[in-house]
Amino acid sequence: MRAAAFTELIGPDGVSVIDRPDPEPGPGEAVVDVDACAINRHDLWILEGESTMVDADELPFVSGLDVAGVVRAVGDGADVDPGDRVVLCPNETCGTCRFCRDGPENLCEAFSLYHGGLAERAVVAADRLVRLPDSVTATTAAALPTAYMTAYHMLRRADVGPGDLVFVPGATGGVGVASVQLADVMGARTIGTSSSAAKLDRVAALGLDHAIESDDPDEIRAAVSEVGTPDVVLNHLGGAYTAVGLDVVRRGGRMLVCGRTAGSVSEIDVPDLFLGHKRVEGSTMGTQRDLERLVGLVASGEFSPVIDATYPLEETGAAFAAMQARESVGKLVVTTDD
Ligand SMILES: NC(=O)c1ccc[n+]([C@@H]2O[C@H](COP(=O)([O-])OP(=O)(O)OC[C@H]3O[C@@H](n4cnc5c(N)ncnc54)[C@H](OP(=O)(O)O)[C@@H]3O)[C@@H](O)[C@H]2O)c1
Ligand SMILES: [Zn+2]
Repeated sequence: MRAAAFTELIGPDGVSVIDRPDPEPGPGEAVVDVDACAINRHDLWILEGESTMVDADELPFVSGLDVAGVVRAVGDGADVDPGDRVVLCPNETCGTCRFCRDGPENLCEAFSLYHGGLAERAVVAADRLVRLPDSVTATTAAALPTAYMTAYHMLRRADVGPGDLVFVPGATGGVGVASVQLADVMGARTIGTSSSAAKLDRVAALGLDHAIESDDPDEIRAAVSEVGTPDVVLNHLGGAYTAVGLDVVRRGGRMLVCGRTAGSVSEIDVPDLFLGHKRVEGSTMGTQRDLERLVGLVASGEFSPVIDATYPLEETGAAFAAMQARESVGKLVVTTDD
């Protein structure tokens, strides 16, 4: 089978299509014919050599978390059947620790992520597959697992509801657009930022209520305050945006943090944190049940994930180049054609 592998950790030019042996399912596993696999900044960091997760001696490496396709073969004990249309929840958990027993599963002490979807076939844990209704295409489904599941889990943890004001720094990418759309589904209003006016126009058309064109944290702090006082901040940028989010969120409000695109360190105002009874919470991915709910919301027409472009497997490098150049709005999805 063909796979779009990372053969050098030098950015988009390091992707090559290679031949790999066809995978066989072990006990509890399924082999999926991959129709679509979305990419995430997580994959890009691996490709750029910015992640500690993959070393040069592990190359070629096949990344890709967000697999959607059709079950081709199953191992003993797998609870899916050949021909089932599915999307993968890329969570890998131990199944035995206190969080696996008591939930939520994404707190698992041995939590890790599936990689291997940027290929014609993927061997996965069968119990991580969510069946797709006929109305949800593979390309649509592939957009959901990482970006939408992460955004949805943060919104649920923050108990966002009708009338809330949600601030999303970086509202144009995978997690950003997902946050805006899902906050809208929950009846909340949104403030979003981007360095690009053209991209903000596209997100405004998807339901963003207040757009701030800037990537200067101080300018953003002032512009948010002019709009209102957010009840919740969904922060996937990290860095200086963490101090800004904490400053602007209301007394007793919450900031959920899931990323560090703009940096890993932020200086925060500690008295503002405690005198304002504010909460800062880390959050990673979501639960398989979150993904099942998202599939249901798409099937019932509540929202449709935003896909900027699809790329054939051979052009996976171009998909990463578009992400690196900050050109896209929403998700980039790699598709196979067989
Ligand atoms: N913890 C988890 O489970 C989890 C899950 C998913 C994602 N994440 C994290 O969330 C973040 C977003 O992931 P994604 O896949 O949605 O990425 P993405 O699609 O590439 O995000 C693009 C967004 O980030 C903004 N951006 C890019 N570089 C920036 C910079 N240097 N400074 C400020 N803004 C910048 C872009 O703003 P412009 O419009 O101005 O270009 C755009 O709004 C990443 O840090 C990722 O690791 C974490
Ligand atoms: Zn566990």
